[in-house]
Amino acid sequence: MSNTAELSVDGKTYQFPIVEGSEQEKAIDISNLRDQTGYVTLDKGYKNTGATQSAITFLDGEQGILRYRGYSIEDLAAKANFLGVAYLLIYGELPNQQQYQEFEKSIQSHSQVKEGMQTILNGFPQDTHPMIELSSLVNALSAFYPDSYNEKAGDTEEHVARLLAQLPTIAAWSYKKAKGQATVQPNNNLDYCSNFLSMMFGQAGEEYKVDPVVAEALNTLLILHADHEQNCSTSTVRLVGSSQANLYASISAGINALWGPLHGGANQEVIEMLEDIKADGGDVAKYVDMAKNAKQTGFRLFGFGHRVYKNFDPRAKIIKKAADDVLSKLGVNDPVLEIAKGLEEAALNDDYFVSRKLYPNVDFYSGIIYRALGIPTNMFTVLFAIGRLPGWIAQWKEMRATKEPIGRPRQIYVGSTLRDFKALADR
Ligand code: CMC
Repeated sequence: MSNTAELSVDGKTYQFPIVEGSEQEKAIDISNLRDQTGYVTLDKGYKNTGATQSAITFLDGEQGILRYRGYSIEDLAAKANFLGVAYLLIYGELPNQQQYQEFEKSIQSHSQVKEGMQTILNGFPQDTHPMIELSSLVNALSAFYPDSYNEKAGDTEEHVARLLAQLPTIAAWSYKKAKGQATVQPNNNLDYCSNFLSMMFGQAGEEYKVDPVVAEALNTLLILHADHEQNCSTSTVRLVGSSQANLYASISAGINALWGPLHGGANQEVIEMLEDIKADGGDVAKYVDMAKNAKQTGFRLFGFGHRVYKNFDPRAKIIKKAADDVLSKLGVNDPVLEIAKGLEEAALNDDYFVSRKLYPNVDFYSGIIYRALGIPTNMFTVLFAIGRLPGWIAQWKEMRATKEPIGRPRQIYVGSTLRDFKALADR
């Protein structure tokens, strides 16, 4: 097979190298396209654009494959723990026992969030959406650790450990503030997931017994969300970081990107949609029809479809099974689970969804588990952010380590051509 691609334009033929990844994915390297031809590419939504070469996550949307650093998501979800997966993503290998202990210790040693951060949080109105507080407080961390502005002066590893340590604390603080309850201090005797649950659901000054079923379910969900290559929020983190903005500022931007309902915000939308269907008598066919007429109704089935998965989302498969397991272990009977299953079945048997390759995605069943764990709906996307944090960090570090240039797409200008300025009085 040829290792160059030819492009003929304006009567001339140009050659561009073909780049092949370790899983035989192929790309045409057009880095010199404009220099050679004067043309740029136009690819709205970057549907065909490989923005980087990355060694972190492999995803095959046709076959429904997802791997972190070569390990299958099925294996990791069944056998690993979230901190081990975070280490794997960030440092490239699964930690041995000593590396794991040191990693956990360094995270625990950064678990205390500065008091000034609480003051900032308290300045937000009571009913502020927690994603606003999360992104704002993560951004604010740069103010408390100003060495983060200057990569050379600062210790990146310290910022990495601090972010992993403090994001769950900030999330739990935001929840406590909304409930009007006192915050619960981090407990370094607990593992990562149990500590988060204790800060969320414990009461200050009282011992909180973490249900191992809940901690295990959370562990699985966080692993499933830990990375997903160049999605909207990860591309945001890399793009912001490419200007050499600091880690906190870059992650804060990623949190904002994640919040959108077409991305991580979909998990909240799914539960709200399922509740609406339930309140409306549970007629799933009506909602499938509305989604089929999305152009007229403006209604989409949240939790369905994916830019890359055109067969099935392997995370959704694991989550659907986990939802059944967790609800039965916890003795929770959530009627929206049945509505979700009915909706899935109706959609998967409908030509509109089949022909467009629209399948349930990671967000379709995750909310049902979060709800069974006692997480309020407006915190679902916050949980996604806690899960995605190691992926964002790994991608940010990779982008810096490989010295990627500042991200700066081109455009095709379609506005007015040159016109004469008219004074205000003449307009
Ligand atoms: N319900 C109804 N129709 C849909 C849906 C949906 N959920 N998703 C896509 N379509 C239709 C769309 O109208 C279009 O139809 P047509 O060809 O007739 O114009 C076709 O399918 C292709 O859609 P698209 O918007 O061009 O596809 P995309 O790759 O740009 O968008 C998506 C991917 C995930 C944004 C989209 O499927 C969607 O909006 N889904 C609902 C939101 C959601 O669940 N997001 C979570 C994604 S997974 C978690 C994450 O990583 O963020």
